[in-house]
Amino acid sequence: MIIGSNILFYENLPSTNIFASQQLKNNELREGTIIQTNYQLAGRGQAGNTWESEDGKNLLISIILFPEMINPADQFLISMSVSLGICDFLKGYIPVCSIKWPNDIYVGNDKIAGILIENTIMGDHIENTVAGIGLNINQEKFLSDAPNPVSLKMLTGLNFDLNICIHQLASAIDCRYKQLLAEEFTSIRNDYTSLLYRLNEWSDYNDSAGKFTGRIISVSENGKLLIEKKPGNISVYSFKEVDFIL
Ligand code: BTN
Repeated sequence: MIIGSNILFYENLPSTNIFASQQLKNNELREGTIIQTNYQLAGRGQAGNTWESEDGKNLLISIILFPEMINPADQFLISMSVSLGICDFLKGYIPVCSIKWPNDIYVGNDKIAGILIENTIMGDHIENTVAGIGLNINQEKFLSDAPNPVSLKMLTGLNFDLNICIHQLASAIDCRYKQLLAEEFTSIRNDYTSLLYRLNEWSDYNDSAGKFTGRIISVSENGKLLIEKKPGNISVYSFKEVDFIL
């Protein structure tokens, strides 16, 4: 087992991602080390957002990886593998979940987990990856203006043991990371695509030209989203170039 054999727990931290990056500069951290906390004073989300999580209720972790075999041009494979690992874990407790491109984990139309992957790239290789995950487990009330948070407890009515969950989650992500190490890229891409939120469903989006109706048909090798607007008319989007109208 690479991921989860070394879990470093802290009662609170500014952000597990920030702490992990600092540790990487100062220390030798084993690949697969997980930094875990109960509470973040400045939890970071995508695009400069914050990440809300009630003290001791959810999983807040950063996983340290050294994915030397991945070309920086293919770095989205790391994001795909982590997303799939979270979905594999969730499927032990709920029947379905999906991945809202690029890497939000959804149950129905609600977000149960967010991922913040930070890769340090040196020349032609990835020096290290900090894969930050916020997975809502036992929280029942969310105070921020996040539109659609949900947790495993809200979905099942059950309370979960975070210590059991972190080991199960680590093991699920470890399986997907091993798939990546084995260069099973086609399987990873196919599994990721098959779980895409709104795959093949006509829905509403916004891009720089305004609102439009389209359907997600796939994700390119470098992680761009392909949306068909009319038969044969396919637009390709990078992160932040298209908004899902929820
Ligand atoms: C998102 O906006 O969807 C990404 C959220 C990522 C939150 C996690 S919580 C653990 C790790 N540390 C952080 O500061 N952020 C990530």
